Amino acid sequence: MASFPSEILKYFSSLIEKETAIQYTSTNGHLLENRLRDVAKTWGYADIEAFWKEVQTRGLRSVERDMVLDLATNNETSFFRDPEVFDFFRNEFIPKSTSANSIVKIWCAATSTGQEPYSLMMTLAQLKDLGIVRNYDLLATDFSDRVLKQAQAGIYSQLEVHRGLPAPMLVRFFDQVMESGSTLPKFKAKADLFRNVTFRRQNLIEPWANQGPFDIIFCRNVLIYQDVESKKRVIARLASVLVPGGYLVLGGAESLLGLSADFDMQIYGKACVYKLKSQLKTSP
Ligand SMILES: C[S@@+](CC[C@H](N)C(=O)[O-])C[C@H]1O[C@@H](n2cnc3c(N)ncnc32)[C@H](O)[C@@H]1O
Repeated sequence: MASFPSEILKYFSSLIEKETAIQYTSTNGHLLENRLRDVAKTWGYADIEAFWKEVQTRGLRSVERDMVLDLATNNETSFFRDPEVFDFFRNEFIPKSTSANSIVKIWCAATSTGQEPYSLMMTLAQLKDLGIVRNYDLLATDFSDRVLKQAQAGIYSQLEVHRGLPAPMLVRFFDQVMESGSTLPKFKAKADLFRNVTFRRQNLIEPWANQGPFDIIFCRNVLIYQDVESKKRVIARLASVLVPGGYLVLGGAESLLGLSADFDMQIYGKACVYKLKSQLKTSP
């Protein structure tokens, strides 16, 4: 339960829900409280109440609004998060995907700081070493400019690479770099990993321009924060930009149960993925 007045929670939670479909209620309001405290501190206010008082008289400035929306999101991610999904991608999806000459189109729809798309790119590079060559285009999007900036730079701290990235892959795909003013080394993805990858800002609940069709969409650990109607709308739109028989991959704690009848659930080892039916029941 948040300890700040409910009118403040209501104001910021409705702004966040309208812009991102992320829901904050009295039960997870304390998370929002922590995040708003950071916003207030950044702009030099003593506390959230002081920030709120000022906002009431002069309205929210666009830089403050962007920061509130950015901090409202959970950016938790890691390399090869839920490894079974990457086993599916490596052992099932890619070997069975069309001819070697066609382009496999992949969309990471909530890419956060980039560990997910880099995990896919490293997997594709390893398959290439084994003679399984696939031409691909990878689109990596997120609604937050802050996380996209890191994703695009492909630079990770020691802590970040220790979360899920096997040492041989670190050596093969990353260069050690020293950033000015830092005493600890960081790790930058090598140039060839960036080939055929586009990073772009995209809010899943806003219109999408000229995308798809994709062979596979990773939309992991983002819908979990949205209300049911927003989830249904986003999933129907994801279905509309997948090729027939294309795959939708959700997070480990997410499912399409009660949200869409356009997919068949398929289990590969420990991975649960969704295959688009040829006839869609829902229109986006
Ligand atoms: C928990 S991270 C998941 C990252 C990655 N997919 C994974 O599973 O490791 C959720 C990401 O979704 C993004 N996000 C939240 N709402 C969004 C929206 N409406 N449109 C696009 N991205 C959104 C956040 O900025 C955040 O980076």
